[in-house]
Amino acid sequence: MKCDLIIRGAGQLLTCASDGAPKKGVRMLDLGIVDFGAVAIGSGKIVGVGSEERILQDFTAEEVVDAGGRVVMPGFVECHTHIVFAGDRLGEFELKIKGAEYLEILAAGGGILSTVKQTRDADLETLIRLTRERLDKLASFGVTSCEIKTGYGLDTESELKMLDAILRLSTSHPLDIIPTFLPAHAVPPEYKGRADEYVALICDEMLPMVAQRYSVDTPPAGIFVDVFCEKGAFGLEQSRKVLEKAKGLGFGLKAHVDEFTNLGGARMAIELGAVSIDHLDAISEEEVAMLAGSETVGVVTPTVNFNLGSNEFADARRLIDSGCAVAVSTDYNPGSAPCPSPQMAMAIAARYQKLLPSEAINAFTINGAFAAGLGRSHGSLEAGKAADVLICDTKDYREIVYEFGGNFVAEVFKAGVRIN
Ligand code: NIG
Ligand code: FE
Repeated sequence: MKCDLIIRGAGQLLTCASDGAPKKGVRMLDLGIVDFGAVAIGSGKIVGVGSEERILQDFTAEEVVDAGGRVVMPGFVECHTHIVFAGDRLGEFELKIKGAEYLEILAAGGGILSTVKQTRDADLETLIRLTRERLDKLASFGVTSCEIKTGYGLDTESELKMLDAILRLSTSHPLDIIPTFLPAHAVPPEYKGRADEYVALICDEMLPMVAQRYSVDTPPAGIFVDVFCEKGAFGLEQSRKVLEKAKGLGFGLKAHVDEFTNLGGARMAIELGAVSIDHLDAISEEEVAMLAGSETVGVVTPTVNFNLGSNEFADARRLIDSGCAVAVSTDYNPGSAPCPSPQMAMAIAARYQKLLPSEAINAFTINGAFAAGLGRSHGSLEAGKAADVLICDTKDYREIVYEFGGNFVAEVFKAGVRIN
């Protein structure tokens, strides 16, 4: 059979193949490795995957790329970012080095709120340009699909400006982009002490407006709605109100829970059928069991703890050992995690959360895809899925998680087209 492209010579071909569901528990150890493998690609999709011998028998192609014995794997699916923003938080970085706490800075009007000010002041074209640069950086580290949240606007006009930026990029940037609407990221300064009124604005004005103006089913995975359920941000009942309203309007759900404080957000979001719950540092034993029995993916963001200089991390080892599906994310954002590198996030997850390299890679590919609503079409090298493929400069996949601070990604194919 004729196809467009064959990538051959994969010393280790990591398929990360799943059975149509995120990988839970011990299944996260299985990378579905084919030794001496190859991938055949046609019309942007994978048409064949397996041993090189079989693929070269079954397919011919105009273009054949030889990986020369290196690792070939699915592109990283980054399921949690806040990369639409203007300005920087460099002053705050120095305050943190001197000992200031993240939530303390936020309570004093800094942190997320300082980025809000700078993002409100920026125009749409500036935000698109800045975000495109960050997407390009993520792509150079092997990200081929990326979720992006609003949440630095916190008023109707600025939140819609952020969403417009994300949607404009989703049609102009080669990466698949998953938009998430997060007006409940912080209480805006003009609503200080009146969080309930801001929640009412979100529910009565912002969410219906987004549902009306854009399709909640916007490809490739629809638009998600997220909340930051945390002390100093939104309480359990406020978070529930936002998520219930969003669900009623047809949005998929995500939730930031247990980053610092357990307010019961994990239970609530799982019960509402969230596609992911993210952070999970303070999740309870009972909620871990609920997560294991659900279809929700638990997303950990070890870059945040690393960036805060903390020795304490979400117990991702316990999550996996309890049978949960775990994804890892960079949480790339200007404050809590200025990190565009999945490889760095996996390196930290291995050291501090005790994930094995195989678990970390499944967490950043197939499970990341499920956490972004893309699990059926992305995240693994399986026939019918998007041809998002990386060639990495190593012969042993474990090295991708072992060496840190660099970049093993040598070639990136997005929907069968080389983009890096
Ligand atoms: O995922 N926790 C809330 N939101 C982000 C932080 C964003 C910021 O610090 O600007 C997070 O860590
Ligand atoms: Fe976040």
